[in-house]
Amino acid sequence: MKLNPIEQTRLKQEVAKKAVEFVKPGMCIGLGTGSTAALFIEELCKRKLSIKAASSSERSTEAARAGGIEVVSMDEIEQLDLTIDSADEVDPKGNLIKGGGGALTREKIVASSSKEVIIIVDESKLVPKLGDFGLPIEILPFGLKATLKRLEKLGYRGHVRKKGEVLYLTDNGNVILDLEPPPYFENPKKHHETLIAQPGVVETGLFFDLPMRILVAYENGEVTWMKE
Ligand code: 5RP
Repeated sequence: MKLNPIEQTRLKQEVAKKAVEFVKPGMCIGLGTGSTAALFIEELCKRKLSIKAASSSERSTEAARAGGIEVVSMDEIEQLDLTIDSADEVDPKGNLIKGGGGALTREKIVASSSKEVIIIVDESKLVPKLGDFGLPIEILPFGLKATLKRLEKLGYRGHVRKKGEVLYLTDNGNVILDLEPPPYFENPKKHHETLIAQPGVVETGLFFDLPMRILVAYENGEVTWMKE
C-alpha cells in the first residue's frame, strides 16, 4: 500500500510518539537508524528520561547526543533492555527487510543484544511477501568484483549503492549492494544463509528470529501491534 510522503511522515510521527511510552527511566535503549528512528529519537529527547543508549549509526548517535541522551558504546553494556528501530518491509510473520538507511549490520548487532525489540512502521511497510523493496546487503570493499561475480552465479543481481557519483560507504567502511528480488524472498532464512556463507558478505538486511514486536501506525489513526 502506497502512502503520499506527507501522510507517511505523519504516520511515522504517530508511531514514534507511541513507542516512547515503552521507554522507562533507567533503561538502556538500542537506537535504530532512518527517518522513523530519527523521529523516535526526537520524541525520546523531549522526554528527558534518565536513560542510556547504544546506537546503530553515527547519525543516530549525533541526534541522540544533541538531544541530551547519553550514548555509550556497545562494549560498555551487557544487554540492552529495549531496541526501537524501523524497517523497509514487514511480512505477516514479522520477518523484515532492513537496510534502506545502510545501517543493517549495526542494527542487527544492536537488536540481537536486546531483551526486546519494537519495530515501528507506518502501514505502507506491511507486505504479503518480502521483496519488492529489494534486499540491501553489506559487503567488504576488498574483492568487491569477485564477490559480485560469485553472487551473480548464485542468481543474485543488484546495484552497488552510490551517493552521487561515489560509492556509498557504511559506518563500517563497507559497501551496500541492493539486491533485486529473485523475484520474492519466500524463505528469508534460506536466502540469508546462502548469502552470509559467501566470502565478502558481511551481513544481510533479512531480520528474523529476534524478540521483535511490530507496532504499526495506520491511516485511520490507529497505532496498534501487528497481528499475524
Ligand atoms: C536503516 C533501516 C531503516 O529502519 C529502514 O530503511 C526504514 O527507514 P525509514 O524509517 O527512513 O523509512 O533499516 O538501515
